[in-house]
Amino acid sequence: MSSQKEIVLSGIRPTGNLHLGNYFGAVTQFLKMQETHNCYFFVADYHSLTTHPNPVDLQDNVKTVLAEYLACGLDTNKCTLYVQSQLPETAELYLLLAMHAYKGELEKTVTFKEKARKQPNNINAGLLTYPVLMAADILIHRAAKVPVGEDQRQHLEMTRDYARRFNNIYNCEVFEEPQAFNFSGKLVKVPGLDGSTKMSKSDNENNCIFLKDDEATILKKLKKAKTDAGPTQLNQEKPQEIENLFNLANLVNVEMASSFEQDYNQMTIRYGDFKKAIAAEMWNYIQPIQERIESIKANDKLLDEVMAQGMEKAKESAHKTLNLVRDAIGLKRIY
Ligand code: ADP
Ligand code: TRP
Repeated sequence: MSSQKEIVLSGIRPTGNLHLGNYFGAVTQFLKMQETHNCYFFVADYHSLTTHPNPVDLQDNVKTVLAEYLACGLDTNKCTLYVQSQLPETAELYLLLAMHAYKGELEKTVTFKEKARKQPNNINAGLLTYPVLMAADILIHRAAKVPVGEDQRQHLEMTRDYARRFNNIYNCEVFEEPQAFNFSGKLVKVPGLDGSTKMSKSDNENNCIFLKDDEATILKKLKKAKTDAGPTQLNQEKPQEIENLFNLANLVNVEMASSFEQDYNQMTIRYGDFKKAIAAEMWNYIQPIQERIESIKANDKLLDEVMAQGMEKAKESAHKTLNLVRDAIGLKRIY
């Protein structure tokens, strides 16, 4: 039965607590898709190694993402949940795909250029080939759909290129070309609170609302969010930081957002009230998830079972793909 369902894959790096960007950009989609698709979701720990995390932090962060996935409602009876490094078969496919990934195209990747700028003393080969590893994650299960936020669009285009290139070079049809996916038809970009266009856990704490933030912290962060002096004309165009607040409001409650939009257009908006309303709606989303996080994270037995079960199911699917890949290239099968 499940083998006829469309295959879905996505992952999140264990670089800290999940935030509303991860939640609305990715996890809400995972929750819907696990009901109808054959889903693989994972913790992208190999990917987080580009910044050389210390081993204790890394282990803790892997547990955090797993616990937060489960607290959000991912259900191991409905999807396969695993840790990337427990499927080293991914690294084999990464090596094989890397033979057809060119330095020039990798150097042009937007995320590479951004990260190289941020860490000029650590521009390692792993960072350069990040999109190849991501393609391996996706292609190892021959996924058709990949629910991700807008920031991952280019990586998905590269994955499609690598899939097509492999099929052409080896004259086979091993891979299909996966699509970046959001049910709305448009990939989501959740803005940060500091006026930046993207909420990201790699940036400063106050830019992000985390699933682990309590009600008071959420309100405090919203209060600090950047605003302007207020509109001075009817129906005035919104500056970036105000647009961001409306984007956030629309994610959590469309009616509330539209009522404040009218106030903005009439120049009667009070940003303090708007921020309070956004914070309250965010808390409505976060509270039930948060109640579950700590107890799940403290349950090592549960997390070990989840990882072991996920690893086994992921290996089954990976071995099928690698047999086809080895056949196509002319390498002996080992799986
Ligand atoms: P971060 O960028 O915070 O380090 P990850 O890189 O691990 O998070 O992203 C995991 C998933 O969450 C990806 O699908 C990514 O597109 C999505 N995501 C992250 N930040 C945002 C955001 N601000 N808006 C929409 N989606 C996001
Ligand atoms: N690159 C993604 C990010 O930074 C995380 C990721 C790694 C991923 N492998 C993936 C996402 C495969 C989707 C599919 O957010």
